[in-house]
Amino acid sequence: MIKNIKSDCRNLLRINKRKTNGFQYTIPSPDTYPYQWLWDSCFHAIILSHFNPADAKAEILSLLSKQLQNGMIPHMIYWKNHKKVSFPRIEWGKEDISTITQPPMIAYAIWRIFQKDKDPSFLKLTYPHLYHFYRYLLNERDPHGKHLIGIMNPDESGEDNSPRFDLPLGLKPVHTLQQNIKRRLGLVAQNIDCKFDAPFCMRNFFWVKDVPFNAIMVANLKLLAKIAEQLKNEEDASYFTKQAEDISIAMREFMLEDGIFYSTYGKGYKKIKVKTWAIFTPLFAEILNREEVKKLVSAYLLNKDEFWTKFPVPTTALSEPAFKPEGFWRGPTWIATNWFIYKGLVNYGFTEIAEEIRKSSESLIAKSGFREYFNPQTGKGLGAKDFTWGGLVMDMN
Ligand code: GLC
Repeated sequence: MIKNIKSDCRNLLRINKRKTNGFQYTIPSPDTYPYQWLWDSCFHAIILSHFNPADAKAEILSLLSKQLQNGMIPHMIYWKNHKKVSFPRIEWGKEDISTITQPPMIAYAIWRIFQKDKDPSFLKLTYPHLYHFYRYLLNERDPHGKHLIGIMNPDESGEDNSPRFDLPLGLKPVHTLQQNIKRRLGLVAQNIDCKFDAPFCMRNFFWVKDVPFNAIMVANLKLLAKIAEQLKNEEDASYFTKQAEDISIAMREFMLEDGIFYSTYGKGYKKIKVKTWAIFTPLFAEILNREEVKKLVSAYLLNKDEFWTKFPVPTTALSEPAFKPEGFWRGPTWIATNWFIYKGLVNYGFTEIAEEIRKSSESLIAKSGFREYFNPQTGKGLGAKDFTWGGLVMDMN
């Protein structure tokens, strides 16, 4: 039973901290995920910024140390070999890193650290890396210049087996995890063939313009503009502000239908009409107006037949044939997705509902521990144990 959530979060971050070759990072979970992951590390840095900005900076610096020549930041860094771990070792064509990326939360994390310690030297140190990374996404991931960022593999979304990717993967809404993994590994083999060259891989094999990835991009570009401004680089600041606006406009144009944003795929930008928690991510980026948010919240978030379960917010709507309460990204509640929804609701002044989500997230941890994900109907803890980004509950404030 959790007594004091804040000290438990601090303790969790402490036990999962690792040092290798002069770099420091936090692993997502000792038994299951003993490496470094991109968006996990951004979440870890946000949590650490509350009580240890120096560790938060170290976490970011180790991520940036493996940036590729073209600007991409890998989604995984294998700092050490762990033979006993069940996590599959995929052949990415590089020795110690993967060659795909993950949702670009780095500018957000760096800005949050700056808000805590007001150290401009860290902004200065990291800015060239940020510039290179976000420019890579803007250029390489948008080959048609439509202002929507593409992913070339479902794992780049951070939601590996989400039903949003069934259609582009050629899978039915109901299938086994083995079938899903087989299809995704097949895609990695194709990615290897196209040498992970994003425009080429996307055009030929898998090209999803995903709602959360783009919403996260918008929120991060706005903060990147603030970082540039802080560094007195007005030109970059207005460039990144404009890019954020362009993506917001394109999201409305290509993704929005009847009040819901859907991810799109392929050259034709076809909508993937599956309701997942992704429909709430435009709140995080402040792309909707208040009236639109009100409708979305009452029709979907607070609807017991859609997302308002006993332990909200399920990652897939109950009304979807793909919904599976214990199916990884096909139903369970995750703390990071709750955190995004919480922040989005606060952006629009829906503080009471946000508070309910905070309390429910905390009660999940109190009931089942810092587990990777939870059954949204029973609260049962599932997946990895001592999962670090559970600490995000202390950033819901
Ligand atoms: C799983 C999650 C992904 C996360 C990784 C490490 O693959 O789907 O989002 O980054 O584990 O925690």
